[in-house]
Amino acid sequence: MSRLIVVGSQWGDEGKGKIIDFLAEQAEVVVRYSGGNNAGHTVVVGENEYKLHLIPSGILYNGECFISAGTVIDPEVLLNEIDYLDKKGIKVDNLRIDQRAHVIFPYHKRLDVLAEEKRGKNNIGTTKRGIGPCYKDKTERIGIRMCDMLSPTFKEKLKRNVDAKNKLVRAVYDVDGFDFEEIYEAYMGYAKKLSKYVIDTSIPLYDACIKEKKVLFEGAQGTLLDLDFGTYPFVTSSNPVSGGVCTGTGIGPTMIDEVVGVVKAYTTRVGKGPFPTELFDDMGERIRQVGHEFGTTTGRSRRCGWFDSVIVRYAVRTNGLTSLALTKLDVLSGIDTIKICNGYKINGEIVRDFPANIEDLELCEPVYEEVPGWKEDITNVTKFEDLPENAKKYVNKIEEICGVHIPIVAVGPKRSQTIVRENIF
Ligand code: GDP
Ligand code: IMO
Ligand code: MG
Repeated sequence: MSRLIVVGSQWGDEGKGKIIDFLAEQAEVVVRYSGGNNAGHTVVVGENEYKLHLIPSGILYNGECFISAGTVIDPEVLLNEIDYLDKKGIKVDNLRIDQRAHVIFPYHKRLDVLAEEKRGKNNIGTTKRGIGPCYKDKTERIGIRMCDMLSPTFKEKLKRNVDAKNKLVRAVYDVDGFDFEEIYEAYMGYAKKLSKYVIDTSIPLYDACIKEKKVLFEGAQGTLLDLDFGTYPFVTSSNPVSGGVCTGTGIGPTMIDEVVGVVKAYTTRVGKGPFPTELFDDMGERIRQVGHEFGTTTGRSRRCGWFDSVIVRYAVRTNGLTSLALTKLDVLSGIDTIKICNGYKINGEIVRDFPANIEDLELCEPVYEEVPGWKEDITNVTKFEDLPENAKKYVNKIEEICGVHIPIVAVGPKRSQTIVRENIF
């Protein structure tokens, strides 16, 4: 298939970076469509590990890479990432940034921190990268985009925003304001360095789609972090679901052929918010240690729990998933009995659809089905037939409960540790 979306189908960190990197070998264009450097995508190739936050994971190959209009860009972070890749011998000549993408400023980052502090024990647990405040300015229609940063009117727009934020932080948070000149000078420097990458990416993207080129849309975050369909208010401020591809890149839904949901063989979450299958016992700790479940962006411990088919079925529906890529199956090796959540119990009643109300979700008790585990190390298995019988049954069971097939199974972080049952791209 020519145009394929890879979308996170849990609470982020499902291993999207690895799956995108694996598929990107065949891609002619790879596009990031939403979010910013709240994302952290890890790609392991041989002995080399790459941690990417903004630049599409496809950069490790030679295709074109776009950061589209729906994203928010911290120019300092982007320049550091370009530098980081350069030091690892990866050139970014094929990178293009959309002129409509919104720019993150120091006041966004500070406001993110201040708002979290003000929320106290009800904090969201954001990544503190200024993502929410930047998207807030966008919807308030006062945001500054990449094209604005490169325009002669930049100074005036920035001055207006800095003045407004200074009034806000002094009045609401009782802290010092921001130095306009300092921000302006720094951002003029970033603009100079980044201008060569800035274009209207929707034009070559449309062209690539029309010419039936292989285009890969790289999801960030995950379905349950989606502003509209996630566990609101414990969500991010963008639309990671597949629908976000159209609004975020400027192409229509008729251009999309396949939507692949990336899911871990269990569930994790960073930050606050309900998580029905979360484990607080030794098993949760075991999964965290064996799966190295510590955040790529903030280093925080990830909360761990059993596979939750209620949320994955919800992801199948809200993204129109055509298949799943199952990651980290290797992490479950050695567990005697594995649990799969098939539904929730709320006040004694069985619920199979994901509730919208956060209070309902907090009351949800997972209803589990137990399946036998396997002992063998599977990190070197390359063919599905060679997996232990119970590992195969586990994958098939997830397929059956979620109602979509699983053509890709990952058994380790490396590019080579990927089992392909069917070619989907
Ligand atoms: P992303 O945000 O969805 O790209 O995921 P992250 O990169 O934040 O987190 C996934 C982590 O799991 C990374 O450290 C990957 O290298 C690692 N990983 C991905 N797939 C597998 C797998 O199948 N097995 C193991 N053991 N690790 C994996
Ligand atoms: P990738 O692309 C996991 C979470 C934060 C917090 C909430 C809001 O690596 O899967 P934000 O800073 O976006 O306002 O934080 O969203 N979050 C992620 N969790 N993976 C991510 O990205 C995330 N991006 C944001 O932890 O709970
Ligand atoms: Mg991540």
